[in-house]
Parts: sequence; C-alpha cells; structure tokens
Amino acid sequence: MTGRPPALSLTHGAPATRVLGLGSTQPDRVVTNHDLAARMDTDDQWIRDRVGIVERRFADEDEQVVDMAVTAGAKALADAGVAPADVDTVIVPNCTMPAPIPNAAAQVADRIGVRAAGAFDLNAACAGFCYGLGIASDLIRSGSAGQVLVIGAEKLTDVVDPDDRSTAIIFADGAGAALVGPATDAGVGPVAWGSAGDLVDMIYMRENRYIFQEGQSVFRWATTQVAPVAMRAAELAGVELSDVDVLIPHQANLRIVEAIAKRLRAKGAREDMVVADDIRYSGNTSSASIPLALDHMRAAGTVDSGDVVLAVGFGAGLSYAAQILICP
Ligand code: UT7
Repeated sequence: MTGRPPALSLTHGAPATRVLGLGSTQPDRVVTNHDLAARMDTDDQWIRDRVGIVERRFADEDEQVVDMAVTAGAKALADAGVAPADVDTVIVPNCTMPAPIPNAAAQVADRIGVRAAGAFDLNAACAGFCYGLGIASDLIRSGSAGQVLVIGAEKLTDVVDPDDRSTAIIFADGAGAALVGPATDAGVGPVAWGSAGDLVDMIYMRENRYIFQEGQSVFRWATTQVAPVAMRAAELAGVELSDVDVLIPHQANLRIVEAIAKRLRAKGAREDMVVADDIRYSGNTSSASIPLALDHMRAAGTVDSGDVVLAVGFGAGLSYAAQILICP
C-alpha cells in the first residue's frame, strides 16, 4: 500500500426506509381442532382455551416453502406497484426448507422475475421476519441494496410429528412478505435483537426430524422476556409506547400475545392499541406469522395505512427481534 487508502464512497445509501407493500398466502386446506381431535387425544375447547387457535392451514404435499414464498412475494410487489426488475435483493427468513442447500431465496427471486438478485435465507426461527426486515432496511441505508423483498415462509407440517399433540395442534403453514424501499421519512425503525443460546434445548429438532419444545419453559420465557425487547425497539425508534397503534407479537400462543400486550399497557401502551390475534385462524407459522398477521389485519381494516406498528418475534435459538414500522 502506498500512502493513505482512498476514501470509500458511502453516498448511495438512503436516509431512511419504508415498507412499500405487503402480501401473504396460505394453503387452501383448512384444518379444524375437531379434525385434529379425530387423530389424537385433544379437544377443541382445550386448544381454544390454552392456545387460542380455532383452525389453521396445512399445505398439501406438492406445495412447498418456495411456492408459498413466490406467491406472497409477488403479491407484495403488486401491492407496492413495483416491478420485479426494480428489486435487487430477496431475503427469505425460514427454518423449514427441506435441506440447507439450495436456499429458497435464489429460486424465489428467479420465479418472481427478480434477475441476478442478491438472495439469501435467514434462520432466526420465529424471529426471522424481524431480523430480515432489520437487515433489509440497513442494506438500503448503507447503499448496498435498492429495494428488498423480505418473505417469511414456512411449511411447518414437514417438521411436526402429526401424532404429537404438544406441537401438531400449534404449528401451520403460510407465507407473508414485505417490500422495503428507500424513503425520506423513516418508516422502519432500528431493530432491537438478541439471543439466548444457553436456552437452545427449549426448542430444537429431535433427531433432525421433528420439532420438540419444552412448552411451559418457552411460555414462561416469552411472557417475561419479550415485552422488554418490544419496549427497546420503541425506544430505539424514538416512539412512545402510547404512540403504538398496533402490536403484532409472533403468533405463538394467544395467551403469550395477551401477556405481552398487558405488560406493554402497564408501561404506557394504550388500551385501544390493536393487538394481533391472527393465530386464531392461521396457527403458528413461525417466521411468516408477523407479515401474515399484518397483511390480514390491513385487509380486514383493523390496521390502516400510516398506523404505527410494533412487531416482535421470538422463538428457537432462543432468538428475538423487534422493530417499529409504519403500515403501508
Ligand atoms: O413459536 C415458537 C415458540 N413457541 C412457543 O412460544 C410455545 C410456548 N408454549 C405454549 O404455547 C404452551 O406451553 C403449549 C401450548 C405448548 C402447551 O400449553 P400449556 O398450557 O403449557 O399446557 P401444559 O403442557 O402445561 O399441559 C397442561 C395439561 C397437561 O395435562 P395434566 O398433566 O395437567 O393432566 C397436558 O397433558 O394439558 C395437557 N395437554 C393437552 N390436552 C389436550 C397438553 N397438550 C394437550 C393437548 N390437548 N393438545
């Protein structure tokens, strides 16, 4: 090296980012609690009372993670009115691809028509969407990416023992997507994230095949440790909890969702803050659950464009992440 290295240009980044469009998809096949009770020792009332699920959607054999991601991603582009040619990066948070290679993102990009995309999967389990949104936003702000498609997509029925009542009643399939792009006013706040790898044994793949979770331990951890992460995300974005219009915790269990909302209300969140309960008809779709809930709520009119949304994901790892976003 001779002399000083050249000053690198960092002028391509955007001052801020926004979510520009949303999309989601679920398989056609509806599975009720009664359907599950016909196969295992459970019942509709127990599932409604203890988990909050009324029904969920299961993919058929020929419907894969990549297929659902393509549908959700294409819908997010259409919602934003953005052509695939104007996207350069695709991130697919998921933990249910059939094998680590190939990843989902490159195939998804190709099928949507995003040519030569920067494309990668991201595994932070049920926190994956918030991790992906944070990375997408920072890639755009640094100048590394222009517009980024983030698609949480999961086929949990591939990794759930259909006869294990502690998991088979909870998990389901689906995909949810957000297109993130540059903006002058901030529409995505900094991500508050972290992990607790010492608690890895609480949720893992038993013999590399089926999900095992220590339900009660995860429940206790989630109901005590997740609300502070959400509060930190609001603080990083410079938002008071009383400014939050909509809370979307990962849809793991309705009782966990309600416990998080209760803690946030005790710290200043409004009583009329809308709280996502999409788990009732979607089940727990891991990294898809937050964008799926947001898209469903917007379609139902419970969330409006411009609303301040606080999203918080948590799950295996253990991993967690939260951020503020403005609903497109
Ligand atoms: O998304 C990734 C993160 N995962 C989570 O956040 C999951 C967190 N955990 C949970 O959501 C809950 O712990 C579960 C839904 C998994 C279980 O609910 P729970 O209220 O913690 O039930 P439990 O394990 O304490 O079991 C209570 C009773 C037991 O019977 P006894 O021993 O009291 O007679 C279980 O055998 O309920 C029984 N039980 C069931 N009964 C009917 C457990 N599962 C079922 C079932 N149907 N499916």
